[in-house]
Amino acid sequence: MRSFVFITLIGLTVMGSRAIATEDLRALGEYLAAECFTCHQLSGDHNGIPSIIGWDTWAFELVMNEYRNKERDSNVMQTLATALSDEEVKALAIYFNSIKPKDH
Ligand code: HEC
Repeated sequence: MRSFVFITLIGLTVMGSRAIATEDLRALGEYLAAECFTCHQLSGDHNGIPSIIGWDTWAFELVMNEYRNKERDSNVMQTLATALSDEEVKALAIYFNSIKPKDH
């Protein structure tokens, strides 16, 4: 019984710290995203510049890494992506994933 309680406590601690880390990253992403919204629309509209909200985080990170590695063309995106750290790309992925396209 005692070990069960102990393991449960560890489980809750791990889950708890993970949730906080994700929340911190989302806040960092929101901060960094201000730069992105000068071109990309928060509403999810495509105005010649593609929508980047609501993507799966893995897909977002993949594309950003392609820009960083210059495997995907776009001078502006390559320059922006190269300036970001792995953690910042993850933070942006979490933040943009959390924004849902508005209904029209
Ligand atoms: C100066 C304008 C500008 C800014 C600022 C900008 N982008 Fe972009 N972004 C573009 C353009 C233009 C494209 C389309 C490039 C192409 O396909 O030729 C693009 C493409 C993308 C794509 C791929 C979309 C797709 O469907 O292929 C992602 C992801 C992206 N940007 C993320 C970001 C993030 C994250 C930021 C902020 C760090 C950002 N962008 C800031 C102009 C911008």
